[in-house]
Parts: sequence; C-alpha cells; structure tokens
Amino acid sequence: MSTAGATRLHVALERAGVALHELAAELGVTNDELLATLGFLTEVGRADEMVLLSDVLGLSRLVDDQTHGAQDGTESNVLGPFYRPGAPFVDNPGSIPHSENDGPPLRIEGRVQSSHGGVPLPGAVVDVWHANADGLYSNEAAGLHEWNLRGRQRTDLDGRYRLDTVQPSHYTVKHDGPVGRLLAAVGRHPWRPAHIHFRVNADGHRPLVTQAYLAGGPYLDDDAIQGVKASLVVPIIRGHATFDVTLSPIHG
Ligand code: BEZ
Ligand code: FE
Repeated sequence: MSTAGATRLHVALERAGVALHELAAELGVTNDELLATLGFLTEVGRADEMVLLSDVLGLSRLVDDQTHGAQDGTESNVLGPFYRPGAPFVDNPGSIPHSENDGPPLRIEGRVQSSHGGVPLPGAVVDVWHANADGLYSNEAAGLHEWNLRGRQRTDLDGRYRLDTVQPSHYTVKHDGPVGRLLAAVGRHPWRPAHIHFRVNADGHRPLVTQAYLAGGPYLDDDAIQGVKASLVVPIIRGHATFDVTLSPIHG
C-alpha cells in the first residue's frame, strides 16, 4: 500500500504487520509460541499492565522523547502511574506534606525560566511528587497520608521555588504480575533509581512533565524503564539539591 492518502492508522497497521512478520520469520516462531505470546498479552491487559509493558520495553520513553523532543528547555520524562492531580499548595519557601519517618531531609530548589531569553517565570506552578526512603508513594501504603510527599508551589517574583522534603529511595516498578514474570524470565530487574517527579506550568509556555534523578544512588545507568537522562541528574550536597527548569514558549 502506498502511504499517499492513507491514514496514520493504515500506515501503522501495515508497518506493524511487516515488523511482526519479519520477527516471526527470523525467529522461526511456532504455533505454541504464538499462542503463549497472545495469552501473555491477554494477561497483561487483564492485569492492567499494558502501560507498564510499554514502560519496561522503553517505548514510553521513546514516544515521550518524540512528543517533546523538538521543544527547547529542560528535557521531559514519563509521567508514571503515581501522579495525582490536585496536590495541596504549599508556601514558598515551604515543606511538602511528610513525616520524619519518610527519610533524611532534602531541600530541593531552583529557578523556573523561559527558554526565550532566560527570563524568570514568577507564578509558575511546580507540582512535585515522589516516593519515601522505603520507596513508597502515598498511593501504595496504608497509613501514609493521601498527599504524603506531594505538593504544589508557586514560584516567587524571581521565578524561584524551594521545597523541604525527604530523600526518596530507589524502588521497584510493579513486578508481581505478568510484566514482572517477563522481566524475571529474561533476567531483568524491576528497579528504578531515586527520583522526584515534576510537572511545571507557566502562562504562555508548554507544560513540562519531567523527573530529577538523585546522583550517587544505584540504577542510574540501569533504570528498568530506561527513563534516566544525563541532563536530569542532580547532585545532593549536604541534603540540598538544585533543579532549574526551563520552559519552552508556546509561540516563538
Ligand atoms: C515512576 O517513576 O513513578 C514510574 C514510571 C513508570 C513505571 C513505574 C513507575
Ligand atoms: Fe516515580
């Protein structure tokens, strides 16, 4: 089929067919193997792990790069399954909700600026969420406050935010279902390096979803979802990290 006049769906279906035929032919896939693979995909769907499968295949990262790659400014990263809209606003400077048991203190701060001339962006909304030192998000453990380690802050007149929180740990992606079985079968681990998720919005600029990775911890060069980007790795110096964010204007 020529691509002229074809919808993207037509093209995608044809290309997927070609790629799958090539793969099946190259590996000499048998009937039993095909049925096992289809059964596995059915199980992944039933377990609501299709996004997780895309994550561990590195496909989510690739598509996120393609979606935002042309945008200048801070590099984007996948949203992940733990985002909750509507986190409480906290003062600037301020603390996001947490308890002392959540981990060693961390102050993270930075400047939100426009890639257009580097001008600071006052009033930008910085939405942050992350795991605690046990690697748990508030959705994951009974006893954690529903907004634990989640908060939004508006940047000040200089475009600065400053949040007191705790140092998150590395943690495993969900691995008690079919995707976890797949990882184990091929000898892959389910760990992600320690990181803090950011969603940043400012008037006239493209929203940014990204992650700041904490330097020095394990799995930075072997992330289960291949999410780490060198430009997003920040050092922690005496409990203090700096993560500046540059947003791309919508026009120009
Ligand atoms: C996360 O960073 O929260 C995440 C992303 C993809 C899969 C699992 C977790
Ligand atoms: Fe995460």
